Amino acid sequence: MKYNNQFGKQGWAPERIDDLKGKTFVITGTTSGTGFEAARILLSKGAKVVMLNRNPKKSEGVISTYKNELGNAIDVAHITMDLGKLASVRKAAEEVIKTVSRIDALLLNAAIAQVPKQVITEDGFESQMGTNHYSNFLLQALLFPLIEKSKGRIVTVGSMGYNMGLKTIKFDDLNWDKDYTGNDAYSQSKLAQIMTVYELQDRLEKAGKTGVKAYACHPGASRTSLIKTSGSLMTRFIWQIIKWSPLVQSAERGSYPQLMCATESNLDQKAFYGPTGRSNWTGPVGAHKLEPHAKDKAVAEKLWEVSEEAVGQKFEL
Ligand SMILES: NC(=O)c1ccc[n+]([C@@H]2O[C@H](COP(=O)([O-])OP(=O)(O)OC[C@H]3O[C@@H](n4cnc5c(N)ncnc54)[C@H](OP(=O)(O)O)[C@@H]3O)[C@@H](O)[C@H]2O)c1
Repeated sequence: MKYNNQFGKQGWAPERIDDLKGKTFVITGTTSGTGFEAARILLSKGAKVVMLNRNPKKSEGVISTYKNELGNAIDVAHITMDLGKLASVRKAAEEVIKTVSRIDALLLNAAIAQVPKQVITEDGFESQMGTNHYSNFLLQALLFPLIEKSKGRIVTVGSMGYNMGLKTIKFDDLNWDKDYTGNDAYSQSKLAQIMTVYELQDRLEKAGKTGVKAYACHPGASRTSLIKTSGSLMTRFIWQIIKWSPLVQSAERGSYPQLMCATESNLDQKAFYGPTGRSNWTGPVGAHKLEPHAKDKAVAEKLWEVSEEAVGQKFEL
């Protein structure tokens, strides 16, 4: 199937974003990479941005950087949230609800990747599944009432990794006690995140709550800290070499898909958005192919139930 880019040959770019004054965006993981760039661009368009980061010192540093570039009048705040801990997600969600009166878009950007050895979080999850999938599931469930009230959006930053590991969810060994590899567990967590987006769309439709939109996107291959933060020495070394090749784009360009999903009208929720060039690593941003296993209904329904059980929270719609 050929995908014509609805934004023309150059693809989507932030110039399309109108004045965002009066709009509130809640975004995870803005201390580096695509999240840092996405928050910066949203602020530059006049939005209020609430950043959910695990390291408050880094958040303060990021705020200073933004103020230096954009001026002291920007409307930016941070709340501490560690996606590696469900209790921290619950606390942060409570604070978000106290702090903001609306959420126009929740951008689920933060993640860890390629953790070389199996690590189990304090909640008993394999760390990538826990950080990237379960915590985001919980955060969405807790913030949903406010997002619904605001007729807002949920934007999930996935990865082409959804197609680089198992083509289904490994329900019989979600912690990878057998056959753990950093890449397989990362890919699984990214597949779980994406499957949740399409399952959420179905559930929203069934509940008649179509005022809320949910989108899946990914940044292609972008020059960020992702591998440096959690990858093995060898993966870091290889990534250092690839990172500066033309196969990889800037973190700023990597932020475009999530910015587009958070702000653009006339998007197709059923689509998967990201760079449309070679292997979807770089290139004009738009809709592109998604492999069918990401929309396997039976697996997605089961994953939803397993996730509710795992995080101890019904995702009420
Ligand atoms: N870069 C790529 O080529 C690529 C490719 C495919 C998908 N992605 C996806 O793009 C998204 C952004 O990643 P990036 O490439 O911009 O990586 P990055 O530069 O490493 O940024 C990741 C962000 O997530 C935060 N984070 C990590 N663990 C966290 C936790 N437990 N709680 C809260 N925040 C946490 C990091 O905070 P700290 O500063 O505290 O570590 C950082 O702010 C991720 O979802 C990733 O899977 C990236």
